[in-house]
Amino acid sequence: MLNKKVSDLLNEQINKELYSAYLYLDMNNYFDKRGLNGFANWYMIQAQEERDHAMLIYKYMQNNDCLIKLNAIAMPDKKYKRDIDVLKAGLAHEEYVTDSIHNIYEAANKVKDFRTMQFLDWFVKEQGEEETNAREMISKMELFGSDPRSLYMLNQELSTRTYSAPSLVLD
Ligand code: FEO
Repeated sequence: MLNKKVSDLLNEQINKELYSAYLYLDMNNYFDKRGLNGFANWYMIQAQEERDHAMLIYKYMQNNDCLIKLNAIAMPDKKYKRDIDVLKAGLAHEEYVTDSIHNIYEAANKVKDFRTMQFLDWFVKEQGEEETNAREMISKMELFGSDPRSLYMLNQELSTRTYSAPSLVLD
């Protein structure tokens, strides 16, 4: 059994990851409506990855004999005026998730829960990558987004993103 505080935070994180999947689905929906299918594809894969993150924590908790409570997932209620607003909201959300992961890491460290710290190492690295990806998209959009031909090319580029299962595998 894990420490109660650590277990509660992991349980909350499952909900946050599922909310992230919801949020990215909403972004997929925004771009689908805009006719930018490459952007829509990028956010659909992002949503799939978030579900994977939730399931990894879910499985980790089960493996450690924790009771999991599946709480309600909040409705994504953001309204976007411009495409760049979506990208910026994505980055802000990833920064929030990074803080949340760090917070669990800190709680695990406090009670010398080395197993959870090692488990979370993958998430710490993943968050770094997610923030970098989100920042790169914003930079490209700021450089090229206002020119229709460049926006078309960027959309083409994002349409090539494919899903791959997470490198962290739990039995
Ligand atoms: Fe699972 Fe994008 O944080």
